[in-house]
Amino acid sequence: MADNKPATLTVHDKTLELPVMSPTVGPDVVDITKLYGQGGVFTFDPGFTSTAACKSAITYIDGDVGELWYRGYPIEQLADKSHYLEVCYLLIYGELPSKAQMEDFEYRVTHHTMVHEQMQYFFRGFRRDSHPMATMVGVVGALSAFYHDSLDISDPWHREVASIRLIAKLPTIAAMAYKYSLGQPFVYPRNELDYASNFLHMCFSVPAEQYTVDPALARAMDRIFTLHADHEQNASTSTVRLAGSSGANPFACIAAGIACLWGPAHGGANQAALEMLEQIGTVDRIPEFIARAKDKDDPFRLMGFGHRVYKNFDPRAKIMKESADEVLGILGIENNPTLQVAKELERIALEDEYFVSKKLYPNVDFYSGIILSAMGFPTSMFTPIFALSRTVGWISQWTEMLADPDNKIGRPRQLYIGSNRRDYVEVGDR
Ligand code: CMC
Repeated sequence: MADNKPATLTVHDKTLELPVMSPTVGPDVVDITKLYGQGGVFTFDPGFTSTAACKSAITYIDGDVGELWYRGYPIEQLADKSHYLEVCYLLIYGELPSKAQMEDFEYRVTHHTMVHEQMQYFFRGFRRDSHPMATMVGVVGALSAFYHDSLDISDPWHREVASIRLIAKLPTIAAMAYKYSLGQPFVYPRNELDYASNFLHMCFSVPAEQYTVDPALARAMDRIFTLHADHEQNASTSTVRLAGSSGANPFACIAAGIACLWGPAHGGANQAALEMLEQIGTVDRIPEFIARAKDKDDPFRLMGFGHRVYKNFDPRAKIMKESADEVLGILGIENNPTLQVAKELERIALEDEYFVSKKLYPNVDFYSGIILSAMGFPTSMFTPIFALSRTVGWISQWTEMLADPDNKIGRPRQLYIGSNRRDYVEVGDR
């Protein structure tokens, strides 16, 4: 890092030298922290397309080749050989756990899955037809009203307990939001089940009959959690960091992340992608939708296509496509018309000049909805499942930020384009 030649910038006849920092891998970064102090100018970068907002050692993406690593481990290896709770440990603590560390972590998560009994009354305040994401934003934010003993962010023990609570309780809260929308009783977690099986149990069992989780479906669920666990400084993660930079408590920060994730350009795209595939309906209607996606005057976009960082295949989409084949095979519905439409749409789009020239490829959301729908989830549950999976990423990034000695409150500046100073005019004179 020290050997890099500084960048020079001439602005208003002043030449400034700006340090250039090199990451482990990836493009170098020009340090502009002193730019305003020394040059009296700001940078302008709406959407942060060229701005690194922090240092991070958690996740690496190479968007040009389509690579994703958690703590250095490629996502393909983790999806194939690891499991979600081990990935959680890896993301939070930085290394793969020993057997004893894994058992201890699993024990701690498993023994925090129940929520305070009074929380069910909180749920009951929502309308039955509320979107589960609306319920989750409210209920996760409310955790800070129920767990006062883990709110002191300057205490590492409080931070640790809050992190475990969030990872443990999010599936319970998401399942409760689902059950509430159905008008069915809430189902308590079961400690003998693994994380993914427990979530399926809380969503699909009813007190009136025995429910056995299909291990193959639990494995597919676990892989969906793993694929969504972290994705470096995306919109919701940046939201969590920004909220946390003010010293807000972890439950409030994660609620902010969930709110941001809900948008259709981000986590809400999985719901939108499946709804789009169902709207297309049959393979012969694909050209009509491709034409709409290319039409500048039509706001329609191919949902589940394109990514700010990936200018190649989203590696998660490839794994998700394999999983879709596997799950539909297990369920005996290989000829699912939505999957046929998705595959044909992908094939046509990848040959189309518009999508090729703009480097638009399927992203993680393109196939995930097909799997979730085949498992029995309604589209409204897709984004809550993304949120519960991403909670560990948000927590890891929040923890990393608080431990960073350079951490300060996030406070972007602006290019002011409003009116110049003017004097107030009395209403009768306007
Ligand atoms: N369909 C049609 N055209 C598209 C699409 C799409 N899905 N995505 C981008 N484009 C076009 C866009 O119109 C623009 O064209 P032009 O240069 O002629 O103006 C060009 O490609 C670049 O797009 P952009 O919107 O400037 O790129 P961005 O990096 O700001 O947006 C994105 C990235 C993911 C928001 C966008 O690709 C999109 O809206 N995709 C659909 C929603 C989606 O699938 N989101 C999930 C993302 S992955 C999971 C997650 O992050 O939560």
